[in-house]
Parts: sequence; structure tokens; C-alpha cells
Amino acid sequence: MHKSPKDFFAPLAVGAPAPLREIPARPSRAIHFFDPSNPKMVDKIPQMVGTVDVLLGNLEDAIKADNKVAAREGLVRIAQETDFGPTQLWTRINSLDSPWVLDDLTTLVPAVGHKLDVIMVPKVQGAEDIHYIDRLLAQLEAKAGLDRPILVHAILETASGVANVEQIAMASPRMQGISLGPADLAADRKMKTTRVGGGHPGYLVRQDPVDGDINGQRATFQQDLWHYTIAKMVDACAAAGIYPYYGPFGDITDVVAAEDQFRNAFLLGCVGTWSLHPKQIEIANRVFSPSVEDIRHARRVVKAMGDGTGAVMLDGKMEDDASLKQCLVLVELAEQLAAIDPKLKELYEGIEIDD
Ligand code: GLV
Ligand code: MG
Repeated sequence: MHKSPKDFFAPLAVGAPAPLREIPARPSRAIHFFDPSNPKMVDKIPQMVGTVDVLLGNLEDAIKADNKVAAREGLVRIAQETDFGPTQLWTRINSLDSPWVLDDLTTLVPAVGHKLDVIMVPKVQGAEDIHYIDRLLAQLEAKAGLDRPILVHAILETASGVANVEQIAMASPRMQGISLGPADLAADRKMKTTRVGGGHPGYLVRQDPVDGDINGQRATFQQDLWHYTIAKMVDACAAAGIYPYYGPFGDITDVVAAEDQFRNAFLLGCVGTWSLHPKQIEIANRVFSPSVEDIRHARRVVKAMGDGTGAVMLDGKMEDDASLKQCLVLVELAEQLAAIDPKLKELYEGIEIDD
């Protein structure tokens, strides 16, 4: 039997905050990962407030087993000592099958739960993983007396997770979003790649032979290894009213290919990506913000469409209710970004449309 829809929005522990009915659309173009056990990185965090939409204290992979406790304690300290202003604070906890995750949650929620916006859960296999976290968070929130629920973000990085992504997205009103985890996903699927995100020169299609000469000049085109997964994730997230993200792009020096992957994700419906280096923040902020040209065009369509029904011709192209809705997605995103980013506000406000 299914749970009654009425109960879906009841807190899972007595005294826990009521679940949200809608996940707020807070800009999260770059989720910048830092290692809270690394004092050099931690020192830079206060200066990064306001320059990035999300700062994420990472406790899982990339943190050595010997540093797990130092990372957890470092995150508590930085969360207590820092005023995050408009920047969100997220964490990535250890995976549910690890010996560290219970201490991660029972330490973080009472100490800094009021400062944590989102908890990222790695290696999610199915809705049951979210249910486990959902109940545990409610118990800890009730005990800590929190007045708003901490949201949950799943990383899509197991074959089961991809197969179950729709159930994961709808597993709890806490679900905020899902990110692609290309490194673990490749390993779990037994893909024969060794990279963290991005394309692969061997994954290609080749032009047909010219005049039957199979050894002659034939153009090849690299294909996107992640297209299927991202598209599936975007549909699951949109249907559930939550937000999809690209994940890590490991080749920090290849800023061109990172930008391409991020832009593909943006065009397909993602709202942001991870950043593993300050260089990637700049790319993500640019790519996940609508361009001036897009906003100019979108505003012209909104104006030309009047009450939003019927069809008009603009520059020789047909616009109707559906293309207007696409334009409104961009206009609304621009408004959300302008509200937190004064430079974008100025840029978007300066756009003139004369017809
Ligand atoms: C991220 O965690 C990944 O495995 O790609
Ligand atoms: Mg991973």
C-alpha cells in the first residue's frame, strides 16, 4: 500500500519542522567543493562568500580515511565561525554503507544544522536510501529544535540509482536536486573509461566512406558519454519539481571542454554544476546564467505575445504559447540571478528592446 498523500507532508518525527511544499529556486550555478580538513582551503572560505552560489564542505571521496574526523570537525568550525550571507552552505556526507556517515549526521545536525541548507548523499541506489536519511534527519532536527528542514540532494552515480532515478527524485519532500556523478557511475557501470566527467576520443561516430574507400579521409565526431544519463535525470527532476546538476569535471586545465560540458547540461535543463577549482566557478557562473542575447530575445517574445495566447511572427520565425513558455524559463532565471548578483542585475536591466 502507498502512503496517503496527506501524510507525505507530515514531519517524520514529533517536533521536527514541517516539510516544504516547494523547493525554493535559489541560484546554485556552482557548487564549490572544499576539504574542511585542509587549513589552507578553509582559510580561503570566508573570502569566497558572495563569489559563489554554494560552498560545499566535502566529507566523502577525496578525503582520506585518516582525515574523516578532522574534516567533520573542520566543517563544524567553519560553519560556526562564518557568516555565509547570500551563499548557501552544503555538505557531502559519507556514503550510507560507510562507518562514518552516522557520526557525520549526528555531529553536524545538532552543531550546525541551522546553517546547513542541503546535505548531498552519495552513491544513492534507490528511494530506500532517501527514506533512511529522511527519518534520521527528522529525528535529529526535532532533537536540535531546528525550525526549517534540511534539504537532501542525491548523487546519481550507481547503475541502480540511474534505473531508479524517478523514485529517488520523488522519495521525499526534502529532495532538492540530483547531480551526475560520472566517476563513480562509470566504475559502477563498468564503463571502460578512466576520466572524471567529459567526453572520450574513442566514443565517436565516423562519416561514411567516400567512394567506398573505407581507409580514406573520414571525419569523426566525438559523442557525449553522459547525454542519456543527464537527459533521464533532467526529466526525473523536472517531474518532481527539483533541480538537476552536472557533477565534477576533473580536468581542471581543460577549461574549454569543461565549458562545453557545462553548457550542454545547461541547455538540457540543468541549473548548475560542481566546481573543483576556483577557475570552474567563473565558467559555471557564466554558462548557467542566460546570455544577454537570450534575454533580449525572450523579452521581445514576451512583449510580442501580449496575453500569451495565439501566434506571432518575429524575425521570420513563428512564436506561440509554447515558445513563450520557453522564453519565460529564461526570463524567470534571469530575475532570480539578478536578485543575488548585482553585476547581472545591471547587465539584464540594461537590455533594450525596441520592437
Ligand atoms: C562524483 O562523486 C563522482 O563520482 O563523479
Ligand atoms: Mg562519487
